[in-house]
Amino acid sequence: MNNHLKNDLDAIESILDLVKHQGLDFLNNICERPTSTQKEVQITNELSEEGLGTIDALQQFNKCFEEIMVASTGPRYWGFVTGGSTPAAIAGDWLSTIYDQNTQSVKGSGDVSALIELETIKLLLSLFNLPTDFFGGFVTGATMSNFTCLAVARQWIGQQNGKDFARAGVSGIVHVLSATPHSSAVKSLAMLGLGSNNFTQLKTTAGNRETVDTADLEDKIKTLNGQSFILISSAGTVNTVDFDDFEAISKLKEKYNFWWHIDAAFGGFAACSPKYNHLVKGWETADSITVDCHKWLNVPYESAVFFVKEKHQLLQMQTFQNSNAAYLGDPLENFSYLNFLPENSRRLKALPAWFSLISYGKSGYQDIVENSVEMALLFADFIEQNPAFKLLAPVRLNTVCFTLADENQAGDFLNRLNATGKVFMTPTVYKGNKGLRAAFVNWRTTKADIELVISEIEKVLVNL
Ligand SMILES: Cc1ncc(COP(=O)(O)O)c(C=O)c1O
Repeated sequence: MNNHLKNDLDAIESILDLVKHQGLDFLNNICERPTSTQKEVQITNELSEEGLGTIDALQQFNKCFEEIMVASTGPRYWGFVTGGSTPAAIAGDWLSTIYDQNTQSVKGSGDVSALIELETIKLLLSLFNLPTDFFGGFVTGATMSNFTCLAVARQWIGQQNGKDFARAGVSGIVHVLSATPHSSAVKSLAMLGLGSNNFTQLKTTAGNRETVDTADLEDKIKTLNGQSFILISSAGTVNTVDFDDFEAISKLKEKYNFWWHIDAAFGGFAACSPKYNHLVKGWETADSITVDCHKWLNVPYESAVFFVKEKHQLLQMQTFQNSNAAYLGDPLENFSYLNFLPENSRRLKALPAWFSLISYGKSGYQDIVENSVEMALLFADFIEQNPAFKLLAPVRLNTVCFTLADENQAGDFLNRLNATGKVFMTPTVYKGNKGLRAAFVNWRTTKADIELVISEIEKVLVNL
């Protein structure tokens, strides 16, 4: 055995102790750690011949890179839609690394850790009050979840036309309809060979809305003259967290033949609260649903799930099976995740989610969701009251989309605010207006954080 490896093996307890203390130091000071960094980093091209061993590697990491670790898991990182990690999720994530399973199968003589994934999917369906006729699995993020669901949808379109796209390749026109798809769903259309330009843009409801106009949807369906199509709908648009009308769409589904996909990356968590679950009413009849776990579930990156109706399992298997690997067995007889989603080898991504779900239960997630919405409303209240700003849309759930009274100052304001390192927000364009987004999903955010950000904003305004 290589000397460094042998020494590391002997010193594993001290190594893990050092990492534990460094991790604790980071977590205990997360509220003070900056949300952005100006530090310049030199990238090395050369790998040393001998290596350093882990304790010296840790020192090198601390010298070169530790400072660029911003507080993205902290309470004031409001850009994109960025979750944190609950203590239970961290515990689960550490154990995923230590057990280092390759999560594929549920029975047999080797690794059967996929049983934990199957259970975690059931727990998530229960959290969201979704029926158990969905089959689910973990992927790296909502982008891959959208990709996975739309890949099965693509296979379904083929089937409707007597074709097997997975084997023969895509042919003919695949109709895709959507009003306000997330960019990752459009990116998925590109990755699936369907073409990011090839979707029919549906009208949105009149007024300051991003939700699909269901009358326009039905008109567009009629022009298809009975051809099957894919509908991509939203449970929470990224700018203003608008929800399509799922009850109306489920009624259309009774009349017309289409695959209904819902991107519920973060908006699906509305289901956790009796105050907001009306937003997803009717979503249970969708064919597929995307939910991100590294957002509102507050587990570490990279974690998301897909839910695809079990009745489509054959199509899912046709799409993802390893068709030329006899050693992997018959996918229908020996279930293995590797025949039902994009990756073959995969870590036990379900474990952080499992730990967090078991630790905090339904009421824990109800609290996280309701607290996030309360924080969004509190911040929106400040924006509405302050003449320097205007809301670009009403706050429907957990995101505040706003701009400055003079919207041309939005970029300059955002740069100055983010440079304080006390808060991080991201820019956007909403209905042609330059604006900013503050998205609340982190379990740690409190009123004190909102007050701190307000005081930083007031200082930035003085110097703008
Ligand atoms: C609605 C929606 N869908 C999909 C995504 C993509 O998620 P990920 O970055 O986890 O792939 C996001 C990310 O913000 C989102 O908000």
